[in-house]
Amino acid sequence: MTTLLHLDASARPGRSGTTVHGSHSRRLSHHFVSAWKATRPQDEVVYRDIGAAPPSVVTGEWIESGYTPAHLREPWMHKVLAESDALIAEIRQADVLVIGVPMYNFSMPAPLKSWIDNVVRIGATFDYDRSLENPYVPLLAERHRRTVLLTSCGSSGYGPGGVQAHLDLLTPGIASPLALLGLTEVHSVAIEHAEDHGDLLDQSIAAALARVDALVGQLQAA
Ligand SMILES: Cc1cc2nc3c(=O)[nH]c(=O)nc-3n(C[C@H](O)[C@H](O)[C@H](O)COP(=O)(O)O)c2cc1C
Repeated sequence: MTTLLHLDASARPGRSGTTVHGSHSRRLSHHFVSAWKATRPQDEVVYRDIGAAPPSVVTGEWIESGYTPAHLREPWMHKVLAESDALIAEIRQADVLVIGVPMYNFSMPAPLKSWIDNVVRIGATFDYDRSLENPYVPLLAERHRRTVLLTSCGSSGYGPGGVQAHLDLLTPGIASPLALLGLTEVHSVAIEHAEDHGDLLDQSIAAALARVDALVGQLQAA
C-alpha cells in the first residue's frame, strides 16, 4: 500500500471549478488525489489543510528545545516540539507528498514556510556533520519518497526557461529544504494566468489537469 500525504496551503478555502473564487492549487491537488485513488483505491491518504490551520511559527523556545539532545530535554521542551513531532511523523509514514500551493510574492504562503520550519529539524530529519564535505546528512532517506508540487500563480513564465524564471522562489524554496531531508524527487505542475482570467487561464487549467493525469500514471507505473 502507498501512503499519500496531501497538503493544501492556499488561504482560499474552496476549489476553483467548484466554488466561486476557489483556489486553483486546491483544485489541482484534489484532482491528483482523486485520479490516484481512482486506480488505487486501497492507498491511504493523510490530509492536512495548512492554509486553514497554519502550523505554529518557530519560536526561541522551539529552537532551544530542538537543539537540546533528545535525552536531555525537559518536559516543557517535549511539549514545545509535539507539533513538529506530529508533522514529521506524517512525512515518515508517507511515500508521496502532494502539495497544493499558490505563489505569494514569488515564494510560498507563510503557513507552508511554518510547516517547513517545523519539519526541518536537526537530529530528527537531518544532521549536520562538519567533518563531511557536504555537512548535511538527510535522515529521511531510508526509503524513497516523491514530492508533487501543484502550484498556481497569477502571472506566467516562472518555469525553467521562462521569462520570469529568475523570480521563482516558490519551487526552489520548497525543493531545497526537502532535499536536505532526503526527498530529492520533485515533480511540478502549475496553473498560470490566474490573474489574466479568460482563455489564457482556461487553457492553462486544462493543460495542468491533463499533466496531473499523466503524472499520476507515470508515478503509479514507476
Ligand atoms: C498575497 C498574494 C501574493 C501573490 N503574489 C503573486 C506573485 O508573486 N506572482 C504571481 O504570479 N501571482 C501572485 N499572486 C496570485 C496568486 O498566485 C494566484 O491568484 C493563485 O491562483 C493563488 O493560488 P490559489 O488559487 O490556490 O488560491 C498572489 C496572490 C496573493 C493573494
